[in-house]
Amino acid sequence: MHGDPTATKSFGSACAKGGKHSRETFDAARWEEFAPRLFYYQGDLNEGTDYEGLHAFLRELEAEQPVHRLYYLSTAPEYYVTVVEMLSAVGMAKESKDNDAKRRIIIEKPFGHDLESARELNSIVLSHFREHQVYRIDHYLGKETAQNITFFRFSNTVFENVWNRNYIDNVQITVAEQVDVGSRAGFYDSAGIVRDMFQNHLLQLLALIAMEPPFSFSADAVRNETVKVLSSIRPITDGDLLDNVVFGQYQGYQQAERVAEGSRTPTYAAMRLYIDNWRWHGVPFYLRSGKALATKVSEVLVQFRMPPHTIFPMPPGKSVNPDVLSLCIQPDEGMHFRFEAKLPGTVSETRSVDMTFHYNDICEFTAIPEAYERLLMDAIIGDATLFIRGDAIERAWELMDPIIKAWETNDSLKPTIYQPGSWGPDDADSFVARDGRRWLRLCGLHENGAA
Ligand code: BG6
Repeated sequence: MHGDPTATKSFGSACAKGGKHSRETFDAARWEEFAPRLFYYQGDLNEGTDYEGLHAFLRELEAEQPVHRLYYLSTAPEYYVTVVEMLSAVGMAKESKDNDAKRRIIIEKPFGHDLESARELNSIVLSHFREHQVYRIDHYLGKETAQNITFFRFSNTVFENVWNRNYIDNVQITVAEQVDVGSRAGFYDSAGIVRDMFQNHLLQLLALIAMEPPFSFSADAVRNETVKVLSSIRPITDGDLLDNVVFGQYQGYQQAERVAEGSRTPTYAAMRLYIDNWRWHGVPFYLRSGKALATKVSEVLVQFRMPPHTIFPMPPGKSVNPDVLSLCIQPDEGMHFRFEAKLPGTVSETRSVDMTFHYNDICEFTAIPEAYERLLMDAIIGDATLFIRGDAIERAWELMDPIIKAWETNDSLKPTIYQPGSWGPDDADSFVARDGRRWLRLCGLHENGAA
């Protein structure tokens, strides 16, 4: 589509195509056609004989043909090892040398509860399946807007040139949720926000923003860069925990059913990470995520440095604002670029103005596919680019595990209580204010003030 003046139009029609499936209304005729291809086999995950039965059942369906299989472990995590071992024991894991029928397995998150359990799980899975057969899900990678980070960075020439410590002051990644822990309190109380959101979704977004250009958009090339950048993040140690991380808990969490009495489980965290490489030396990455916050928004925001020298005389008390680029992951899917423009009629006063792009400008809004539509289709066709490789999972745990352990093993540390419907604990604001910065938000905020 290089130089194609109708590019936007073509993109528009591509969006519509990509959007077909879950957002379409029910079509009885198509369902009738599809339904006979669905089969159900009931069994007990702990029973070896049930796997033998399942295997026999599948073979009968396949009628000796080389048919690809995709096993999807959307079970409770405590069953992952059992299922993997049982599948392998009855011969369902190995790919045959005689034909090209694939045996793939999707493993849902959480992949491990800490570094040790993730390593153990990796080692068990990889003793029965080869890495190329394993698809570890992080549904954030399946979001169109997260994928667009890679496209935005590597299919434009303008931004990549300033994508480094010389031009970028700081990067902020916010994944805020309005919902509280709801019916998942039992699981959540032993997990907490760092395991539930940082170890996976926030670190994956950070990797997309910070990675070096992969030499191609292939699974190995992209995932090598992910591992490289995760390996370059400076670990937070026990001693500098409270300088770099803020923990919060929403008021009322303790009263939720199945939350342990006096629980210190954080439902909010904000953290500062540094990437020790040439590109990002000295640039703080501020990450924050929480439950029961003011609104649901996932946003990656890049704040550029101030111009090195001001040539315009500023009115007293006025200054220019730094340029900001916001990549809106959800909702309000799109991008904002905020920059300074001269306020007409003044000598040198500026105003921050926005250039925006929203997916619903070029696609019907409902046409953006769900993350899982993309990921399941990719696993079916064998494209692992948007799935996490075993080494990347371990790198992410290596970063988050010491933080979790330092918090969990020190009873004297208490999360700061915040009000549901707020933006989290005040400490999170003072935390960035100490660096002379503040949390910014453009996603969902438009010039007319509408969110
Ligand atoms: C899941 C977490 O991985 O992501 C949940 O376990 C969280 O706690 C969810 O609510 C958020 O996903 P999304 O796509 O709604 O931002």
